[in-house]
Amino acid sequence: MKRQREIRGSTIVGTGMYVPERVLTNLDFEKMVDTSDEWILERTGIRERRIAAPHQASSDLALHASERALAMAGITADDVDQIVIATTTPDRFLPSCACTLQQKLGASRAAAYDVFAACTGFVYGLGIARGVIGARIADTVLVVGVETLSRIVDYTDRNTCVLFGDGAGAAVVRPCDPDVGVLSVSMHSDGALGEVLVIPAGGSARPASVETVQAREHAIQMQGKKLFPFAVRSMEDSLRESLAEAGLGASDLDLVVPHQANLRIIDAVRERLDLPQEKMLINIERYGNTSSASIPILLDEAVNAGRLKLGDIVGLSAFGGGATWGSCVMRWTMARKGAPASTASVSGAAAAVPQS
Ligand code: ACO
Repeated sequence: MKRQREIRGSTIVGTGMYVPERVLTNLDFEKMVDTSDEWILERTGIRERRIAAPHQASSDLALHASERALAMAGITADDVDQIVIATTTPDRFLPSCACTLQQKLGASRAAAYDVFAACTGFVYGLGIARGVIGARIADTVLVVGVETLSRIVDYTDRNTCVLFGDGAGAAVVRPCDPDVGVLSVSMHSDGALGEVLVIPAGGSARPASVETVQAREHAIQMQGKKLFPFAVRSMEDSLRESLAEAGLGASDLDLVVPHQANLRIIDAVRERLDLPQEKMLINIERYGNTSSASIPILLDEAVNAGRLKLGDIVGLSAFGGGATWGSCVMRWTMARKGAPASTASVSGAAAAVPQS
């Protein structure tokens, strides 16, 4: 009889981020639309955001973040089996942003594809990486969240323009013992909520025309008030779901890396989970909402700041257009920046050392 192959888990072995140099502050917006620094800060928690240079497309931002993640993981582009890019702002509709990144990175062996799940895209990407690694379709998956939202924001619409920023975050995912690394991922969608956050034109339903450009239909339109309660509920519910699947509860969380859409949303989720402030990571004041890039950017900052300890229970949670939402719970396996865990030091676990 054929021996059953062992289940294998997956874990993050390297992270990287990149944000463009140009800073757009709340004071800059006071000169552009009818708004104020006080309003933006009080309602969103945002002070400033980064804006890509004219020559930079999403793949350029993704390239910097990916190179840093590969370096931290101690591998080269040749080692990558799959590239999953979560984005709503690919360089072009065809080819995919992931294929463009593959070429720029020189990851010639990798299968490359984009995932459209708006702000939940990075969580979806981790779910996909976990699936293909678990099924032994791939050993090394590069998951990237990247956005150049400045290209699809209407800078005359104060309801949206103050919220968004550009940036990229990346993670290298590799096999590990099933008891550590990514313990669970929940992924959800509800197309009935699609009209709450929409770019009306540019797709097959409403192709680009002079009229669509004049009506600014290629920019994000949002019903922020409707999104707010959905965001709080969906992030809490999916994180609890992922925790339960991992046999854990909210009190087991050492750190939460939430999507950065609005500080008030993050605070409401934290209160519902009954977590102290120091367990909820926040950087929205510096980058605004970078959609699918917000979680991997925050994660990389946490890694580099030494905020994540070996064996920590880490929760990721996001919601976004679609509507989409989802969460991921991990038992952290990197002993220090760039170093995979040793077998002995993760409680109750074997190792995060890559297995083939
Ligand atoms: N400056 C000043 N006033 C503003 C601004 C602004 N930038 N934007 C809106 N206003 C006005 C509105 O026009 C409204 O005026 P009115 O009462 O005269 O009509 C007033 O402020 C209050 O607007 P509200 O919508 O009630 O403000 P609210 O407190 O709900 O905050 C916000 C708005 C920040 C958009 C909030 O609803 C929110 O964060 N919602 C969730 C949005 C979100 O998460 N988006 C991203 C989701 S998915 C993704 O990440 C891509």
